[in-house]
Amino acid sequence: MAPTTGLQDVSTRAGGAKSGRPLHVAIIMDGNGRWAKRRNLPRVLGHRAGVNALKRTVEGAAALGVGVMTVFGFSTENWSRPPQEVSELMGLLKAYLESDIDRLAREGVKVRIIGRRTGLAADVLAVIERAESRTSHNDAFLLQVAFNYGGRADIADAARAFAEAVERGEARAADLDEALFERHLSTAGAPAPDVIVRTSGEQRISNFLLWECAYAELVYQDVLWPDYGPEHLAAALTEYRSRDRRYGGIAVDDVAVAG
Ligand code: FPP
Repeated sequence: MAPTTGLQDVSTRAGGAKSGRPLHVAIIMDGNGRWAKRRNLPRVLGHRAGVNALKRTVEGAAALGVGVMTVFGFSTENWSRPPQEVSELMGLLKAYLESDIDRLAREGVKVRIIGRRTGLAADVLAVIERAESRTSHNDAFLLQVAFNYGGRADIADAARAFAEAVERGEARAADLDEALFERHLSTAGAPAPDVIVRTSGEQRISNFLLWECAYAELVYQDVLWPDYGPEHLAAALTEYRSRDRRYGGIAVDDVAVAG
């Protein structure tokens, strides 16, 4: 993770590497179960292989010009999976943070876990809090792990937090606008994703970064997550860079014609 892209200004949510802000890639890491099934292995081994893919991808990301990465590790809907699989995913987050935090901290990575803290066991919470406080002053790269996260839940939680501030007399409903609202989201302060990648060939957003994805480019890749690595991320970025992002405006080439 040698190159640093700088996170000095992550206050604006408009996103977009062309504007000089760090490029933000969000990834729905899908296909662990199918990867395992194809090998006649238990699903949990697919998730373990998925952690290795995550390590490879994070390690190669900065060299590809990425400054922020958000990965979907556990959704609010994943609680409905068999208890053994839920427990494995909890254990994997803990193990990942415990094994990699020294290296990530050394490399200037700021680690942030987004999503609901309620429902997580005390030992998982302790590891999350340690990882976050250990890396809170870093600004070379931001790694956000969405865990016990759901886009709708995050929006509902933000609405509740704002309503409570109004009830306490600390905010006024009339002042609410998009910029104020998003300060209550668990992604507050990070730029919006420029591109959302989903692996395994599935083409859905699955309740991931619903507010934040407003202008993200969607890239679907037909590779199962445990097989993923920097070469696939590079291909996703090539696809992203070929897109013409207009943010509701018109193409640059068409401005003269329109005028
Ligand atoms: C989707 O695959 C993946 C998940 C539900 C979890 C993603 C988790 C990891 C990559 C490993 C854990 C990493 C951390 C940091 C917690 P799936 O099981 O839905 O695959 P399938 O659609 O093929 O069944």
